[in-house]
Amino acid sequence: MSKSSPLVGKRIVLGGGGGIAAYKVVELMRRMVDAGAFVSPVLTRASLRFVGRTTFSALGSEPARISLWDGSDPIPHTRLGQLADAIVLAPATADLIARYAAGIADDLLTTTLLASKAPVVVVAAMHTEMWQHPSVVENVATLRRRGVVVIEPEAGRLAGGDIGVGRLAETDVIVQVVETLFEVSTKNLLANKSVLVTAGGTREPIDPVRYIGNRSSGKQGIAFARAAAELGARVNLISTVPVFDSAGINVVPVESAQEMFDVVSNLAVSCDLVVMAAAVADFRSANVSPVKIKKRHGAPEIRLEPTPDILAHLGATKRPGQVLVGFAAETGDLEIEARRKLKDKNADFIVANNVLEEDAGFAVDTNRVTLFYGESEVALGHSDKRDIAEKVLRYVAEYAKNTGAWQE
Ligand code: PMT
Repeated sequence: MSKSSPLVGKRIVLGGGGGIAAYKVVELMRRMVDAGAFVSPVLTRASLRFVGRTTFSALGSEPARISLWDGSDPIPHTRLGQLADAIVLAPATADLIARYAAGIADDLLTTTLLASKAPVVVVAAMHTEMWQHPSVVENVATLRRRGVVVIEPEAGRLAGGDIGVGRLAETDVIVQVVETLFEVSTKNLLANKSVLVTAGGTREPIDPVRYIGNRSSGKQGIAFARAAAELGARVNLISTVPVFDSAGINVVPVESAQEMFDVVSNLAVSCDLVVMAAAVADFRSANVSPVKIKKRHGAPEIRLEPTPDILAHLGATKRPGQVLVGFAAETGDLEIEARRKLKDKNADFIVANNVLEEDAGFAVDTNRVTLFYGESEVALGHSDKRDIAEKVLRYVAEYAKNTGAWQE
């Protein structure tokens, strides 16, 4: 993705604060350089206690700077600030956030911040108690009001062995947010594209009353349909759940895997993109009773048979220019299963989620997914389902452009 990254040619000041997460920021810097950005490291004195200046100088696009006074340039802060296309503060400690929010300019990094009109991304990392302290909460709110993008710390293991919110966000997430700053408006990203999305869990009848089902609410699929419509696509949504507020979306209700197969295989032929977010049953009853099974006759014996695999069928019949996004709902290792599904079903992308995770997977409004495509793997972080959908669609559109699948 690096050749077409929106970071190509962008000048980024990477402001390093004094926190243990500084070691992860080295990787962040490298990733932005690899993506084509010109990265100028500007470090606080405190940061040098964690990672040496030489490391940043060696991996950045130019030598790391620390002081207003240590180079031949008499006004480095105005030059850095004016030339910057973006400033990324990482790790942004409680102290750095406070100084920035208060407009203090007592070192090269804070003077550069004040001398710049470029967008700023603050990537916070600190101990949980500090992050939740009212002064930090207020400072973060102040920065947000001024339009600063704040990437909140994630939960996990912290320095000293504590567990809680405080870890620097994953590098992938930070890079993606910075890229977003430079992306041309997403409006009409899918203009003239025809997109088919499936949503909800299928119901496989046992008799006229009972069925085999699953926990899917359809929220993730519906979020994809809405995001695609907002990005300008013509959208068909094949759904097992009722869809309210379906403006701009053609909703086709279905119930069973077979019904979904019939509708999808028919409509997909003319689609540029298919997103299989539905939880399609793998098995159905082979001996569906035409009348209600009576309790007094004892427990029925239900023989199961496989349902048609819609995604695998689409993969086998994919036409040039068509992009296929499948999902993997897992309860264990995401990578092995996602890569297997990517290959076996001939999909272009697999959106993998662990459905045992809290606030992810079935029926909740948020999700945490990892996107697998080609040899790549991108963790998209924890976010609401609409946001996840838009991020995936961006990757898909980028991929389709790069591979020439979509001509315009
Ligand atoms: O609907 P929500 O409550 O918002 O929950 C979202 C979700 C957890 C359902 C969603 O994020 C998700 O993971 N959807 C896929 C569920 C699933 O069926 O996963 P799977 O790993 O069993 O199937 C792999 C892929 O094959 C999926 O794209 C599925 O649509 C497809 N499939 C599966 C079986 C089958 N017979 N035909 C298929 O096309």
